[in-house]
Amino acid sequence: MALYRHSSESIPEKRGIIGAVFKSLDQSKHGLRVVRRGTRFGRISIRRFLFWMFSVAVLFSIYLAVFGLKMQFHGNMERGISSLKDVQKDFLGSDALAQPKRKPRRQQFYPCEVGFLDSVNNLVEPKDYANITQFSSSYVYREEKPFGNDPFEPRFGGHQTLEEREKSFYARNQTIHCGFVKGPEGYSSSGFDLDEKDKSYMNTCRVVVSSCIFGSSDFLRRPASKLISEYSKKNVCFVMFVDDQTLLRLSADRNVPDERGYIGLWRIVIVRNLPYKDMRKTGKVPKFLSHRLFPSSRYSIWLDSKMRLQTDPMLIIEYFLWRTRSEYAISNHYTRHCVWEEVLQNKRLNKYNHTAIDEQFIFYQSDGLTKFDPSDLNTPLPSYVPEGSFIVRAHTPMSNLFSCLWFNEVDRFTSRDQLSFAYTFLKLKRMNPDRPFFLNMFKDCERRALAKLFRHRAVSLPPAS
Ligand SMILES: *[C@@H]1O[C@H](CO)[C@@H](O)[C@H](O)[C@H]1NC(C)=O
Ligand SMILES: *[C@@H]1O[C@H](CO)[C@@H](O)[C@H](O)[C@H]1NC(C)=O
Ligand SMILES: *[C@@H]1O[C@H](CO)[C@@H](O)[C@H](O)[C@H]1NC(C)=O
Repeated sequence: MALYRHSSESIPEKRGIIGAVFKSLDQSKHGLRVVRRGTRFGRISIRRFLFWMFSVAVLFSIYLAVFGLKMQFHGNMERGISSLKDVQKDFLGSDALAQPKRKPRRQQFYPCEVGFLDSVNNLVEPKDYANITQFSSSYVYREEKPFGNDPFEPRFGGHQTLEEREKSFYARNQTIHCGFVKGPEGYSSSGFDLDEKDKSYMNTCRVVVSSCIFGSSDFLRRPASKLISEYSKKNVCFVMFVDDQTLLRLSADRNVPDERGYIGLWRIVIVRNLPYKDMRKTGKVPKFLSHRLFPSSRYSIWLDSKMRLQTDPMLIIEYFLWRTRSEYAISNHYTRHCVWEEVLQNKRLNKYNHTAIDEQFIFYQSDGLTKFDPSDLNTPLPSYVPEGSFIVRAHTPMSNLFSCLWFNEVDRFTSRDQLSFAYTFLKLKRMNPDRPFFLNMFKDCERRALAKLFRHRAVSLPPAS
């Protein structure tokens, strides 16, 4: 039932020194800039370059000798840093670095060419562009306190039983949990409270680009305005969800919303009463539930706050959804394809409470999750591990259901959504063999071409429970 399209390149994608070519809206300008950079480099003679590198190395060694400091590099991405380190190492010998184990050089990943249209002129939304599965979901809006005297606490995700969870996977007319569950009349809010003005604005959106920063975990990256068409500026809602803490921090960075509530293209929407202590879990609300937050919208694009959008959103929708006749598009992970590897990696990097990861993983294995088999030509997905920092979706019944189900897994288990993606997708497919869901899992290098990637702001987040 699930369709995805392999492009000519097989997965895992080839890396290598590919000159990244962007075919963007502003192609000519971009091309010019690359050329200019090329000539500037050409003018510097090799000798001068070597001399410069040598001077840097000498300065470094003097610095190290005098201060005996262990250098810590905070790079703006990987570039440049490793080469400096190598110079330093050649000069001093590796021992002088006083690092017992030299970290392996960070692997580099490059964007690849994405064949976007040249402009949004003449874009027409295809009618019935896929055989979209039709049914109607409604959502649990309020939960009543069960009989008895047990204390009851409203939960944003509700109190879904395992039985309800099982049934929720059927693609049919029914009421399911999908966040935003209120407690009984008179109980406190279950969280994610928004201003009425923002809500009515959000109700008007038909196409949405959204992102969030909670717990000031990131800087604000404005979409590259020059690369966004006038059409999209007028017709697409760009919404950045933040909490009060982040807003304060942004103001300290001199990012203050104007009187209309905008910073650049972003409309800043303040979320009060965050539903989870774990900021990463709270971040999954806008990430997965855009069809709930923007009930009139037909399309949405999710962007992690570490990315700066530099492609027109309508061209993104055309390329990832319309052209491939898909209703949901997400990229595969750049190195990992099997949930087993992802679990190991999460533990290795201490991303989350190990016991909680194990509970989730064992549950999934007992409910049919298998290892990814790249040699299986009928594998329903090109990878079982997504890189979910960029998601494009049409708000169709199947796509919305998948979003709710995936959110419910994050609510029930860990906030590590890479662990639940394949399980949720495969179970949805298994339980609805005759109801297609058109999911386009595209290559990570394409994700890199649409947006500029940054590292997250280095702050100590409250530990994920
Ligand atoms: C939709 O499904 C019908 C039959 O199930 C098929 O004939 C038709 O080609 C499909 N259309 C598209 C656009 O896939
Ligand atoms: C499901 O809901 C839709 C819209 O509410 C309705 O038109 C359709 O008949 C329902 N289908 C079934 C099987 O009840
Ligand atoms: C880790 O998760 C387990 C199971 O969910 C829980 O019982 C335990 O309290 C958690 N530990 C910490 C330190 O949060």
